[in-house]
Amino acid sequence: MRQSKIIIADTIVPLLEQELATFQSEAIFIISDENTERFCLPIILTIEKLRKSRLITISAGDEHKNIDTLTYIWNELSTHGATRHSLVINLGGGMVTDIGGFAAATFKRGCRFINIPTTLLSIVDAATGGKTGINFNGLKNEIGVFAPAQAVLVGTQFLATLDNKNLYSGFAEMIKHALISSKKEYATLLALSLEKQEWSKFCPILEANIAIKQRIVAEDPKETGIRKSLNFGHTIGHAIETLSHQTKQPVLHGYAIMWGMVCELYLSHIKMNFPSSTVTELLSYCKEYYGQPTFLCEHYETLYELMLHDKKNDGSGINFTLLSEIGQVHINQTATKNEIFEALDFLREN
Ligand SMILES: NC(=O)c1ccc[n+]([C@@H]2O[C@H](COP(=O)([O-])OP(=O)(O)OC[C@H]3O[C@@H](n4cnc5c(N)ncnc54)[C@H](O)[C@@H]3O)[C@@H](O)[C@H]2O)c1
Ligand SMILES: [Zn+2]
Repeated sequence: MRQSKIIIADTIVPLLEQELATFQSEAIFIISDENTERFCLPIILTIEKLRKSRLITISAGDEHKNIDTLTYIWNELSTHGATRHSLVINLGGGMVTDIGGFAAATFKRGCRFINIPTTLLSIVDAATGGKTGINFNGLKNEIGVFAPAQAVLVGTQFLATLDNKNLYSGFAEMIKHALISSKKEYATLLALSLEKQEWSKFCPILEANIAIKQRIVAEDPKETGIRKSLNFGHTIGHAIETLSHQTKQPVLHGYAIMWGMVCELYLSHIKMNFPSSTVTELLSYCKEYYGQPTFLCEHYETLYELMLHDKKNDGSGINFTLLSEIGQVHINQTATKNEIFEALDFLREN
């Protein structure tokens, strides 16, 4: 699979102007959600070439990453004369880049699209790596295709309007990249103060962080091996996220992943001798910035059931990615029910 070109800068306009100059596109369609239409769209509409573009606005929130919204996008493309030579610009968080990328990749067997991620999570994760799709039948990302964006253009200026919860949610994925990569990267991130961040200074840190995912995806684009290292924290994290929706106390993805990472570092410690000092360090960071997890002891069985049905499993038990040291990744690991419950206790009771 071709890798997307990724360019990062403080301001988006020069990046996008430069990219658009390379397109002889018949028509341009911009997909945004209600929030990015308000906060981000006016910034790019200052570009002359976009004045006549067709705007497609969808409802915000993951619950709208569904077949109805997809049909709406396809309809808009179709009735306003999009062709295979048209260009789609996805302006938003992971919800918009996932569904917009899927709509573009499937319309008339595929037209080109550019991702302009506007949340921290989409900058470091969702907008790159070529996964697109929608939720279906109550299942996350059930339908989709691998389709890399023509370009991923990151303007850190968009982060200025993002709320703190979404900032920390994205930051958890950055910490994940650091943990599966290097001690230096990890130490840099833990020393940062997100709230005081001047976003222009953040560019090199983002660049290094995105490069970690890029390297892994380049090696294993379809997730048959090493790409599974990006699932670190996600076996327990996904279960916590799903449970939070079932119990009507929804938490953002990155929060569930942070709690999942603490548990999976604990498993890494008991099963692979991962240093306990780093486990404790992440636990205190997690408690300070992500708070106490929302699930209780009585939910352990449900969490375990959810892990048993995780689509990452291959028939040989619950599939984990564990670490023996920061940057030393071991994919396709398993853990017993007792070990998993012990890890959940470690997170909740410390
Ligand atoms: N394709 C992949 O590899 C991949 C990886 C991780 C996550 N995802 C998907 O990404 C989605 C989650 O992404 P997300 O966390 O970006 O969620 P999101 O796109 O729902 O954005 C979160 C909220 O922030 C708002 N928003 C976006 N940009 C803003 C800005 N600059 N200022 C103010 N508000 C803004 C949105 O309208 C939304 O309300 C999920 O659907 C998940 O499945 C995909
Ligand atoms: Zn994730």
